[in-house]
Amino acid sequence: MNKVIGTGVNRKDGRAKVTGTAIYAAEHQIPGLVHGYLITASIANGEIKSIDISAAEKAPGVIDVFTHKNPPKIFKPANDFMTSKIYEARLPLSDNKVHYGGQIIGLVVADTFEQARDAAHLVKVEYTTQKPLVEAQKANYKEAPPLFGEELKFEKGNTAGLNNATAKIEATYKTATELHAPMEPHAIIAHWQDSNSLTIYEPSQWVMGTQRTYAELFGLPSERVRIVTPFLGGAFGSKAFPWPHGVLAAAAARQIKRPLRVVLSRRQMTANAGHRSQTEQIVRLGAAADGKLTVIDHEVKSSTSPVDVFPEPCTNITPVMYAAPNLRLNQELAIMNVGTPTFMRAPGENPGMWALESAMDELAWQLKLDPVELRLKNEAKEHQRKGLPFSAKHFADCLRVGAEQFGWKDRPKQVRSLTRDGKLVGWGMAAATFPGMRGKATVKARLLPDGTAHILTAGNDMGTGAYTVVAATAAEVLGLPVEQVKVELGDSLLPDGGLAGGSQMTASLVPAVMSACKEVLKTAKAETAQEALNNLRQSGRAAFEATASSAPGDEAKKWAFQSWGAHFCEVSIDEEIGRLKVTRWVSVMDIGKVINAKTAASQVRGGVIMGIGQALMEECHFDPNIGYPVVYDLATYHYPAHADIPRIQVAFVGEPDIKFNPGGARGVGEIGITGVSAAIANAVYHATGKRIRELPITPDKLL
Ligand code: MOS
Repeated sequence: MNKVIGTGVNRKDGRAKVTGTAIYAAEHQIPGLVHGYLITASIANGEIKSIDISAAEKAPGVIDVFTHKNPPKIFKPANDFMTSKIYEARLPLSDNKVHYGGQIIGLVVADTFEQARDAAHLVKVEYTTQKPLVEAQKANYKEAPPLFGEELKFEKGNTAGLNNATAKIEATYKTATELHAPMEPHAIIAHWQDSNSLTIYEPSQWVMGTQRTYAELFGLPSERVRIVTPFLGGAFGSKAFPWPHGVLAAAAARQIKRPLRVVLSRRQMTANAGHRSQTEQIVRLGAAADGKLTVIDHEVKSSTSPVDVFPEPCTNITPVMYAAPNLRLNQELAIMNVGTPTFMRAPGENPGMWALESAMDELAWQLKLDPVELRLKNEAKEHQRKGLPFSAKHFADCLRVGAEQFGWKDRPKQVRSLTRDGKLVGWGMAAATFPGMRGKATVKARLLPDGTAHILTAGNDMGTGAYTVVAATAAEVLGLPVEQVKVELGDSLLPDGGLAGGSQMTASLVPAVMSACKEVLKTAKAETAQEALNNLRQSGRAAFEATASSAPGDEAKKWAFQSWGAHFCEVSIDEEIGRLKVTRWVSVMDIGKVINAKTAASQVRGGVIMGIGQALMEECHFDPNIGYPVVYDLATYHYPAHADIPRIQVAFVGEPDIKFNPGGARGVGEIGITGVSAAIANAVYHATGKRIRELPITPDKLL
């Protein structure tokens, strides 16, 4: 049998993407398509006193104007993350209230995009305004509710012992409000075939969840709604559920009986498509002289919008990383006049690891211990909140292999002791982690007489490599060259493939693809695809076909599933102008079985790049007086360009996690970003002796 799994297979969707034949949501050609442009609030807190649409209605090409005075008809969905959810619980245009700057307060529909945009600017709105609350330090924090039914707070032992600890760290770490900023803006085409049958072209990380949500919004059975989302131009968590613009577009399209397209501008994406809340975290660590942790105390504050609840779950990582007899976790949440925050690549894990891994570095310096050594010494043997052992843990190998590949043993032990070309140089490291998640997935496999296999599922690929991973798995089980496997994803007409989120698509799909392909061979009474093809041609049938599902059992009652990693980096700093450059990077990950070495490494690199953005550049500020984001495009929201990124060396260690699933794979979409900002801040300390506890590390903080 040919070995495909674990090798470096080229992206199945690569050619389509670079040649422009991959069709994204807004690019679908629908006859009779009309265009919508959103009207958004210019205040951040208050009420609409009057809204005058008379000029807009008379403008050229205008078909209709929707405001809270004539909202299109929609029903509230169940609004549960597990079944059907809109990102923002308040339905668009449901009243005259304005909760945050840029909130959608209307929609103009016209024959062309330009006509709709022009008319939207003719709408006159008068408001009664209250001062918005957009400054985190002025917010009123209360206990955060559980997320997905999981408590974010926890306590074991007694953290009061911190006072008697030999070594002690108590520090506050901050992160900035961050935007997802995917290349493809949020967009939708809503096309009603009749008043009971809807097709939605919208980038979606969760085909069937989105289908259920739109069905509930219009009081339809799910099968009357089709979701088409073969390609996503990046999502990072911001495209798993419908946002208000999508809800409004679908509702308006039904009313005007025309296919309608709405595309968010970059400006609108700052308010209407989610963000990662800023966080403020206090970490207290106590340790004995030998470095053994006695106390870990992690307190988190984040904010949500007035119209939905989303706590950034930073304390999820704390009970898995390091063992301490006394452990306390606490999360608080405040309501601010900002758009609704949501999942963004490693939600919680990312800012949580920034704080914890910075504090661990501070502790290592205080104890005069190698930070790698400190981590090895305190590695948790079980998930301290769940009380379960890890299924397959090779964190120590990540640390050792990373240190070896980076040359960590040559690290000068003093700060400000490395220089190059007149610049300070520093080395830093931090750990990475992300839970192993998996959902139910169903896959159809088909073997055709022309020698190709087709694999079909409504799971999808938001740029992670799912097309390629599915093809590689099928090729291996069937014994076919990977070029002969065709994969179709991202259409609700296909079997439910689960959610592309929580880094779970690979772990969900791989076992289902394996089963479906084995089932095809069984149907063909064959051991290999070659044999099956002979039987198929002799039988005169059109295809051998099988559908199979795979789902988690009760293994999560016995084991905690978690991926691990370590980052090592070098920075160079020109103190005179505050210029920091990341000059070297090594990441070593334990993600169970690596299904495709190329796309897996690419996911880690993407995560590291996004983490470098978070560490050095990304921040969305709000004007304290008017409450509007002061960034509004990809020029004002800075993120890394090629010149900011060094070569990123990625390696994998570990073993297949077969306690987790028969494919042995955990996900790799998110772990790469975790720990990155801490590794950089730790390197900055080594270079300069300056401990930076607030992201991003902009030049002013280095001068
Ligand atoms: Mo991810 S933040 O679960 O798309």
